[in-house]
Amino acid sequence: MNTHDPQEPSGGPATGWWTEAVIYQIYPRSFADSDGDGIGDLPGITARLGHLADLGVDAVWLSPFYPSPQADAGYDVADYRDVEPLFGTLADADRLIADAHARGMRVIVDLVPNHTSSAHAWFRAALAAAPGSPERQRYVFRDGLGPDGAQPPNDWQSTFGGPAWTRVDDGQWYLHLFDTAQPDLNWDNPEVRAEFLDVLRFWLDRGVDGFRVDVAHGLVKQADLANWQEPQEILSSGQEVDKPRPPMWDQEGVHDIYRDWRRLLDGYDGERILVAEAWVEPAERLARYVRPDEMHQAFNFEYLLAAWTAPAQYAVITRSLEATDAVGAPTTWVLSNHDVVRHASRLGLPVGTPRPNGIGVDDPQPDAALGLRRARAATLLMLALPGSAYLYQGEELGLPEHTSLPDEVRQDPTWERSGHTERGRDGCRVPIPWEADAPSYGFGPTDASWLPQPPLWAEYALDRQRDVPGSTYELYRTALRLRREHGLGRGTLRWLASGDEVLHFGNGPLGVLTNFGTASVPLPDGVEPLHASGPLDGGLVPTDVTVWYRA
Ligand code: GLC
Repeated sequence: MNTHDPQEPSGGPATGWWTEAVIYQIYPRSFADSDGDGIGDLPGITARLGHLADLGVDAVWLSPFYPSPQADAGYDVADYRDVEPLFGTLADADRLIADAHARGMRVIVDLVPNHTSSAHAWFRAALAAAPGSPERQRYVFRDGLGPDGAQPPNDWQSTFGGPAWTRVDDGQWYLHLFDTAQPDLNWDNPEVRAEFLDVLRFWLDRGVDGFRVDVAHGLVKQADLANWQEPQEILSSGQEVDKPRPPMWDQEGVHDIYRDWRRLLDGYDGERILVAEAWVEPAERLARYVRPDEMHQAFNFEYLLAAWTAPAQYAVITRSLEATDAVGAPTTWVLSNHDVVRHASRLGLPVGTPRPNGIGVDDPQPDAALGLRRARAATLLMLALPGSAYLYQGEELGLPEHTSLPDEVRQDPTWERSGHTERGRDGCRVPIPWEADAPSYGFGPTDASWLPQPPLWAEYALDRQRDVPGSTYELYRTALRLRREHGLGRGTLRWLASGDEVLHFGNGPLGVLTNFGTASVPLPDGVEPLHASGPLDGGLVPTDVTVWYRA
């Protein structure tokens, strides 16, 4: 019997702070700018940690802040043991970690092990060295096909568009599942494995509480690098758990890497964690990343991608809980991040719209009011679910996607690499508004902002929402307080009723009802509403509203 079979009893559910944590994603470029250059930085984050303590989150996850040419907004790392000067210094990172800890918040950093930047010393050495050299064997270099090797070694495509191979001066090709400036590492090489164990130690020794592991399903490739004639997306999907996987994603070998890392983390005190960014479906397949000796959590993208209907939400919640229960791991929930259209806008598109890769001014526009209404209902539903929840900076303000960014300011490599067919992810990365009447809406001391902020940012600014009953910020703050008080994160979900129009469940002492239908619906007799995502209609729950009540 396979000792890592997900159906095998795991020795009981995991315990620890992370099993019920609310973790807030900070995108350093866009959170707070201390020096007025228009790009957020670590001192800016530290100065704003009070906001996150007030909001009531348990931990922050920081997207990459390491030295980087920023070809993919920092997901192209040139040095894993330092801080990009745009963002500050190692001393600033130490201060941020210490300040967060002093406020009772944990700190998770991003680790990008699938690829380095092309500016990394290893890749520069690989280019300077000969084909077949040890320097080249840290990456995936191959000869091309055809008489003069002028064809790429296989048919793989970059996730951002175009071929996944680039040719170098001596005629060899190197693999990059993302941008040309992000060469994939060769994880069959023990030197690569040793290097990353050392990088983990470097940050663990500085006191971080865990790592969000970028593209965790991509590190190991099928040995023969076989062609893959099907459409290639970052999401490795399939309804059957044992369906063959694309040769670049979700290969069996990745799990050994995470077992090694887990052993290392377990040697440290303080319950340090690993979080997989693995675009893998179905849930049973994803659960293999969080078996007891592997990672602690995996992002639940199937939940993020689920349609806003009662049956779809019921199905994904049930499947997610069953799959993680089977391996004793907590389920996670997420609605927004720096790679997807913000949920306040996504949910304002017609139900059933395929996942948009960015929205431009000439694309069909979301219905902003409907999107926000549904986003608030979705958030209140999510925060009532047992497990751990991820929030993305600005969603607590109800921020929409910026859908009218001029194309000439776009910086996501997707826009260029897709030949201007995919707008990309800039619209969810716009610097966030703190004060309605300040320059750059309080993002920094000047007007500078690396992506232009739209005028409607003023009405979403934090200072327009703080202490304002009914504001999205207060909705989140109250939800996080009640979630903690009632232990919802460590509770157990009991379905009470679910049909085509309503989702209704209990968790601990609370009942939770979301109305997806077109007519208002009653709450159970005699219960007292405790929190709601929108005004009730004479005691009835209107369309696209979630209510928490005391049973
Ligand atoms: C992950 C990141 C994304 C990045 C990609 C390549 O999906 O979340 O922002 O572009 O990896 O590193």
